[in-house]
Amino acid sequence: MSVAEIFETMAYGPAPESDAEARRWLDAHAPALGHVIDNRVVPPRAGAYFESVDPATGKLLMKVAQGGAADVDAAVAAARAAFDAWSRAPGHVRARHLYALARAVQRHARLLAVLETLDNGKPIRESRDIDVPLVARHFYHHAGWAQLRADEFPGYAPVGVVGAIIPWNFPLLMLAWKVAPALAAGNTVVLKPAEYTSITAVLFAELAREAGLPPGVLNVVTGDGRTGEMLVAHPGVDKIAFTGSTEVGRAIRRATAGTGKRLSLELGGKSPFVVFDDADLDSVVEGVVDAIWFNQGQVCCAGSRLLMQESVAPRLLDKLRARMERLRVGDPLDKAVDIGAIVAPVQLQRIRDLVAQGEREGARVWQPSWACPAEGLFYPPTLVTDVAPASTLAQVEVFGPVIAAMTFRTKSEAVALANNTPYGLAASVWSESVNTSLDVARAIKAGTVWINCTNVFDAASGFGGYRESGFGREGGREGLYEYLRPAWEATPHPPTPSPSRGEGETALDEGRLPSPASGRARWTVDPAGRDQGASQPWGGGEGLPYPPIDRTPKLYTGGKQARPDSGYSRPVLAPDGRYVGEVGEGNRKDIRNAVEAARAAAGWAATTAHARAQILYYIAENLAARAREFTARLTDLTGADLGASRAEVEASIERLFTYAAWADKYDGLVHGTPLRGVTLAVNEPIGVLGVTCADRYPLLGLIALVAPAIAMGNTVVAVPSERYPLAATDLYQVLDTSDVPAGVVNIVTGPRDTLARVLAEHDDVDAVWYDGSGEGAYAVERASAGNLKRVWIIGQPPRDLLDSAQGQGSEFLREATQVKNIWVPTGD
Ligand code: NAI
Repeated sequence: MSVAEIFETMAYGPAPESDAEARRWLDAHAPALGHVIDNRVVPPRAGAYFESVDPATGKLLMKVAQGGAADVDAAVAAARAAFDAWSRAPGHVRARHLYALARAVQRHARLLAVLETLDNGKPIRESRDIDVPLVARHFYHHAGWAQLRADEFPGYAPVGVVGAIIPWNFPLLMLAWKVAPALAAGNTVVLKPAEYTSITAVLFAELAREAGLPPGVLNVVTGDGRTGEMLVAHPGVDKIAFTGSTEVGRAIRRATAGTGKRLSLELGGKSPFVVFDDADLDSVVEGVVDAIWFNQGQVCCAGSRLLMQESVAPRLLDKLRARMERLRVGDPLDKAVDIGAIVAPVQLQRIRDLVAQGEREGARVWQPSWACPAEGLFYPPTLVTDVAPASTLAQVEVFGPVIAAMTFRTKSEAVALANNTPYGLAASVWSESVNTSLDVARAIKAGTVWINCTNVFDAASGFGGYRESGFGREGGREGLYEYLRPAWEATPHPPTPSPSRGEGETALDEGRLPSPASGRARWTVDPAGRDQGASQPWGGGEGLPYPPIDRTPKLYTGGKQARPDSGYSRPVLAPDGRYVGEVGEGNRKDIRNAVEAARAAAGWAATTAHARAQILYYIAENLAARAREFTARLTDLTGADLGASRAEVEASIERLFTYAAWADKYDGLVHGTPLRGVTLAVNEPIGVLGVTCADRYPLLGLIALVAPAIAMGNTVVAVPSERYPLAATDLYQVLDTSDVPAGVVNIVTGPRDTLARVLAEHDDVDAVWYDGSGEGAYAVERASAGNLKRVWIIGQPPRDLLDSAQGQGSEFLREATQVKNIWVPTGD
């Protein structure tokens, strides 16, 4: 074709990136890749391999080791052996290693990018210009955290051996997101890459060895889900960091329940891309391209739901279709290609099936007029309209280049639609109005909100989900905490084996409660509906002086005392067996009512921090006024001497002051990302928190948990000490007289572990804090997999809530909040 003809047609010619270096690397490692353990490339002990294929051609790239139990054992042992020296090394030493890794990534950037594209099918433009530079940036950024850790995170220590399990959509980037913070904090790592894309992880481990990373600090074991499962179950692993499907995230939550292993999950999404009528529509079109056709739409935070204000929808859709006609799908190594290959046949089939399902449900599917290459795994950019909000394509994560378009009329409708998903990973808001965009950004339940931009990432900003998109953050200061534990925990979590019992088989089943059934009393109501209180179970007990019982407290729900649904009460006995009183026997229904009341009080989150502080001070004031009474009550209940009881009451008052102080001081951050504008990290409340308390400090145990939770704007359903609940029920009047709005604090007395499990299973509870037994912790963590709520196990390892180093502070505030990063570009 002559130059003149090229000018005439403006047709693209091929612009292939050479794969010669990458092929040479593969040839040098032929016929198969091994694991990298202790800085040595080792074949799999069981001799099993699987094939890694180029999705653009269907050709075999390399055989890869299938990790078995012996391989995982060896890798974990290597990481454990390396932990001591690595975690004790001065921050500056680790900083130099991380810096060396960043430099190594930059030196080998082209090889990494080409191999990534060959293995994954993503366009070279993306691996070269986005993935690999972000990998280098991540290691640079975390070289800084390694340097600063001791100063910036006093009182914290590394977690131990981290098992990192990553997906195939950003193989190198997900590696960096986990390995960089883990190493910076002083942990050692066993990494399990995804089975479709293992090759660059092995290359990276080799580069790390060449860069001088000590043996055992980073180990790579390749294999499929079975290898991942072994890593999760391994008793030598202290933390699992996972990115992948929600389904596997749930399985990992269940598998780690009760083991004391720390867990962070970054799961799926169905992120809204919200366009208001004052948005710059040409920018919006480019935004949609980046939101859903970046990496073939195989992005957890892909903007896969296009929500358009009705008045601009037709114009926007016309512009979008015109742009789609000009997108180019094809050879991922071609530098002028926009959309590459889908990672694997199973993923391509999943996309096809979901689109077909959408069509059957009445959606209209539009694709450009040109055809995709016939060879290889390609799927065209796809726009779907006429999508009902509850339909498959509006709800299910497709993980492909498919966007579902819907309309809204008002801002509140936009927010409701945006939040109409169980996920909460990311969102993108387009409006020229600062008021509209920031207002909507605050109202959307998602860990990242991009204003007038999309899919922008940086190591300085935390990334991670709300709700079923998982928990934990990657990047930034907030991300580093995922790889640290309080230093007072003497050693890295000694992994405690979970109770060996099968699904659903637990002593906590309601029917088989270790309940006070023998001492149960009927809750009686006289014909006029007045409570008669619970009848005492033993009649009188000849000559034994009962302490005076002037009332039988009920449950406390929605600011009112409520009779327990069961109609039962339970006796409260002092340690010497004395009968001290009775409380209501809460059950599943009572928890449901309390959760409803807590949800209805969600306006608490919008109360000013100053007002929340005032109320906490007021509770403290009213508690102080009755300090003697509470002291006597504690002594009566627990048999503790008056001095100890007084100390507990005083500590409770002090805790209230502490969190009143924090209420308006737990500030967010403005992250130093490369964005021209600001990246705001905002601490938001989690929502409805279920809190269960141990017996050790009947009053402080409740206040130490409830006070930080409400200070941060959460509402609470609390189950107080099962053995000594009367200290908590005495608080009802304190709460009533302290202007605590109805529903902010709800208290359900009864069998702690049964009620904890109900809270953990409840889909409208956003997080559970459990202070109780190891068995109870196991049950709560397992049950929490349902809606993937955050769980904080407080007393494992044992924690002294009276000790202010263990019983209060930033750890509590962090557990009471979730960070939302709002990206706000400025300028024209
Ligand atoms: P997956 O969740 O099965 O795989 C992710 C990683 O987990 C891989 O390394 C895999 O080997 C490992 N794994 C699988 N089963 C495991 C188990 N029981 N225990 C421990 N590790 C295990 O994701 P998959 O099958 O590759 O993709 C399925 C769907 O998941 C996709 O269609 C997409 O919707 C979603 N997905 C979401 C991602 C995200 O970034 N949020 C990434 C990849 C997939």
